Amino acid sequence: MTKRIGILTAGGDSPGLNAAIRGVGKAAQGAYGMQVIGFRDGFRGLVENRSVDLGGSVLSGILTVGGTILGTSRDKPHKMKIAGKTQDMTNLIVENYHRNHLDMLVCLGGGGTQKNALQLKEKGLNVITLPKTIDNDVGMTDVTFGFDTALGIATEAIDRLHSTAHSHHRIIVVEIMGHSSGWLALGSGIAGGADVILLPEIPYSYDAIATAITHRVKHGKNFSIVAVAEGAMEQSQAAARDELITGIREAEANGDKKARKELKGRLKALEAGYVDHTMQLAKRLEEMTGLESRPTILGHLQRGGTPSAGDRLLATRLGTACAEYIENGISGVMVAARGDSTEPVPLEQVAGNKKLVPADHPWITSARQVGVCFGDR
Ligand code: F6P
Repeated sequence: MTKRIGILTAGGDSPGLNAAIRGVGKAAQGAYGMQVIGFRDGFRGLVENRSVDLGGSVLSGILTVGGTILGTSRDKPHKMKIAGKTQDMTNLIVENYHRNHLDMLVCLGGGGTQKNALQLKEKGLNVITLPKTIDNDVGMTDVTFGFDTALGIATEAIDRLHSTAHSHHRIIVVEIMGHSSGWLALGSGIAGGADVILLPEIPYSYDAIATAITHRVKHGKNFSIVAVAEGAMEQSQAAARDELITGIREAEANGDKKARKELKGRLKALEAGYVDHTMQLAKRLEEMTGLESRPTILGHLQRGGTPSAGDRLLATRLGTACAEYIENGISGVMVAARGDSTEPVPLEQVAGNKKLVPADHPWITSARQVGVCFGDR
């Protein structure tokens, strides 16, 4: 019997998604004779049964195109806003999976998508995922596609900021994406030669940064580039956040719903007050060092445009391996990158397994050895 597979892309878009769709689809159809359809806008398209045939020439000419031809959304199957109300749409997803006579659902996404896919696996569906995100924070895979492109874009931005910072004798504080992980800021900070790199994994002190910048000035370097991850935090704020998170876990363990709600509200307020931390940091460093300072937020530029050669290659490798897994009856796994090869990792080991930067990671050691300040000492 001809196998029939459905593909969707979920979460924030990422360069390489089209290369991955093409890799899965071309191998599934060309090498294994399967039928392939796509669902629009992530899990929402599956709920609303909006599909598109990915046969014929639909997959031609998309390898180099950014974004996703299928569209994406951050909708979760079990918490979807339908007509203004948040509802659990999992059963309808299961129904539509069968209505479309699918043998496999392929979900391309980051950490949230891995969790959603596991829930569908637990509902009895055949699911396979691919690891996609510019944040590179999905556990159990060497790397995610999208990261390499974003790394290149952020590095080029830091390169460009160097000449203007140098000419004006300024501090430039550049905010780099990554959600609560620091891979992108760390990688681009090192590659772009940032003087200070601030990561969510290493809370910083204003004093340590100002001291490092002043030290540079004393040695005739009257400009500095500070690469700050969007999730980086100052030490006292990070301590307050950690205390609240511990409190929430305790309240959950004790079944104390009232305390949990109250603490969650406080955590939300703390995080909301932190959204413009890059602006605050630039202002604070100007006051502390006497150097003019400017903030730059790279934002969604980092996710846009054509994927790098590395991401096209990775996404194609993972996509074609995915088709091979399906042909071999493998299901309920993420196609992980392992060196030059791939490995099927059960979704139970991936979901909720966020890969953060370890404090003793070789990139950090290397950066410290070339004089980068991480704001912690
Ligand atoms: O996960 C990718 C990412 O770009 C993060 O780095 C960032 O925090 C987030 O998505 C931004 O999300 P949105 O596009 O929904 O604003």
